[in-house]
Parts: sequence; C-alpha cells; structure tokens
Amino acid sequence: MKREIFSKVHSATKHPARIALAIVKDKDDKYNMITLEWFMKTSIKPPMFAISIGHTRYSHECLQNFRFFNLCLPSKEMIAVSKICGSLSGRDIDKFEKTNVEWFTGRLAKLPVLKNAKANFECKVITQVRSGDHTIFVGEVKYSWLNEDKEVQLVKDLL
Ligand SMILES: Cc1cc2nc3c(=O)[nH]c(=O)nc-3n(C[C@H](O)[C@H](O)[C@H](O)COP(=O)(O)O)c2cc1C
Repeated sequence: MKREIFSKVHSATKHPARIALAIVKDKDDKYNMITLEWFMKTSIKPPMFAISIGHTRYSHECLQNFRFFNLCLPSKEMIAVSKICGSLSGRDIDKFEKTNVEWFTGRLAKLPVLKNAKANFECKVITQVRSGDHTIFVGEVKYSWLNEDKEVQLVKDLL
C-alpha cells in the first residue's frame, strides 16, 4: 500500500460503474437531460436516489427551479444519447430534439420516461446539499419503470 494523490487512487478504483441520465425541466418548460456518473441509492424506505450536479450545468439551474427529476439508467443501445447529453449543454441545444429519443409522459410530474432505457425512476426532490463545486439533490422515487430485456450501460461503454 502506497500513499498517492486522490485523482490517481479514485481513477484506479472507480470502474465498473453505471451511467445514468437525469431528466429535468427548465423554466420555459423545455426538457433537458444530463449524463451522470455520480449517483447512488440512499434510502430503502422510502426509496431515494442522490445525484451530484455541477454548479455550472444547465441542469443545476433547472433543478433549482423545478423540483423533480427522472433518473434514467440507459440501455447499451443508447450510447450515442449518453455521449450527447454528457458533452453538450441544454443552454445551447434541445437534447431531446438532437438525440431523437423515444419517450412517454411519466406519471409523477409529466417528465419524460425514456422508452428504450433499462430503467427509469421518477423522483421528487426532498433535499439538497452543497458538496464543493457540485450540489447533491436527493430525490424520493415515486414511480419506477423497467425494461427486463435491455442491458444496462456502463461508464466504460462511453470510453
Ligand atoms: C461519462 C460522464 C459522466 C458525467 N458525470 C457527471 C456527473 O456525475 N455530474 C455532473 O454534474 N456532470 C457530469 N458529467 C458532465 C455533464 O454530463 C455535462 O457537462 C453536460 O453537458 C451538462 O449538461 P447541461 O449543461 O445541459 O446540464 C458527466 C459527463 C460524462 C461524459
């Protein structure tokens, strides 16, 4: 065991990790999607997920305004979607138009549920905490959706 700088130790131990997309809505009612590596389950009863969003992201602005998100676990066939949503900003483009993803309206807050994903969790923001240059938004899962036949996407699929 050797002492190392944080970034080296973290990079060496972070895989395999799943990719997620958070779907949010801006103040003009336009939907946006952001690719995320930093998310986790934080409660069993009620079920909750936390997502960590950089302060500079357009999605951060959206979440401050509209207190719901849909946490989507994309399938292997959605690699192009995750790449677009992880490199372009909703400030500049409409990612739903650009990716042409198929979706239907969820039950909770009328946020899109992605039809070809492995899973979708419709969440209501319960609390948030500042974590350095990111904010952790904690959402309670209200409705869950599953495609049993799809395979979950991993961060390494994007590398
Ligand atoms: C593989 C991957 C993982 C990412 N994980 C996160 C993350 O956990 N949190 C975050 O704030 N940004 C993350 N990003 C960066 C955002 O997805 C990216 O900056 C995005 O363009 C922001 O979109 P927005 O401005 O529309 O919100 C990740 C990007 C990639 C490619």
